Amino acid sequence: MHLERRNRILRTNASIRSLVAETSLSVNDFIAPLFIDEGKDIAHEIPSMPGYYRRSLDLTIKEVKELWMMGIKSVLIFVKAKDEVKDNTGKEAWNRNGLMQQSIKAIKDAVPGMVVMTDVALDPYSSYGHDGIVKDGEIINDETVEVLVKMSLSHAEAGADFVAPSDMMDGRIGAIRKGLEENGYIKTGIMAYSAKYASCFYGPFRDALDSAPGFGDKKTYQMDYANRIEAIKETLMDVEEGADIVMVKPALAYLDIIREVKNSVTVPVSAYNISGEYAMIKAAAKMGWLNEEKAILETLTAIKRAGADLIATYFAKDAARLIS
Ligand code: PBG
Repeated sequence: MHLERRNRILRTNASIRSLVAETSLSVNDFIAPLFIDEGKDIAHEIPSMPGYYRRSLDLTIKEVKELWMMGIKSVLIFVKAKDEVKDNTGKEAWNRNGLMQQSIKAIKDAVPGMVVMTDVALDPYSSYGHDGIVKDGEIINDETVEVLVKMSLSHAEAGADFVAPSDMMDGRIGAIRKGLEENGYIKTGIMAYSAKYASCFYGPFRDALDSAPGFGDKKTYQMDYANRIEAIKETLMDVEEGADIVMVKPALAYLDIIREVKNSVTVPVSAYNISGEYAMIKAAAKMGWLNEEKAILETLTAIKRAGADLIATYFAKDAARLIS
């Protein structure tokens, strides 16, 4: 054969491959989600997320210090609310002394440099397990947005660096931005879950927080997975309303969406490598059906290649260890 071009030259050995690699993972890309519970000295392994824990605040602080030592610079926090405080107003969500607000303060006190991002949605606080207020069997938009603004303000007051609305109500980014401005929280960022799909892959997360919807599903607010153009519409609107970072969620079955969003906006794009994606790798690895470490690196690299600037992932610690 007489070839003009031999593409395999660039794949000859590991050194050459690393020189020409188009995408590389960095510990700077990762956001580590944390599940926080009441109590002391508690680390509860989530059955559908082996190796991942819901911890009391004291042990959460230990974990945050460890993450920081490994070079991970951001955490995204979720709390498990007690059944007694759940209702249909979500009022525990903006309790200044609630577990979320206490956790934000404690983490910022312990590791001031850690970027604290907070989930904003009513599901952990809702007696119906929905992201908003329920009336006559429907999740009502405008009243929910008012509550999400109060919730965001309480997070900002506690010291959150970014609030991360994951509820998919209409107009919430604009309302939260306005609320932050009017109350002087001009340094608090918004990471908007902009293209968040109604996905079966959230199952393990809802186990972790005991937050599964009590009736119906979330399809009247989260997006239909059949849609692509709608993701761009949602994202552009969130940017216009004041989002600093936009997010696509889930990640793995939505790499096309990550790419299209990346090509459509001039703000950083994050992707959420969600609980079900974690569970799938863990389960297959446990069965001996695939190599866990390789699966983690390939998955995260693919999400970054698709266009994610930041990746929220339960594998943050593993990945940090693997690439160091
Ligand atoms: C709450 C919320 C969910 C997730 C993040 N924030 C669950 C849901 O919308 O039902 C899912 C994260 C994951 O699965 O890892 N609104």
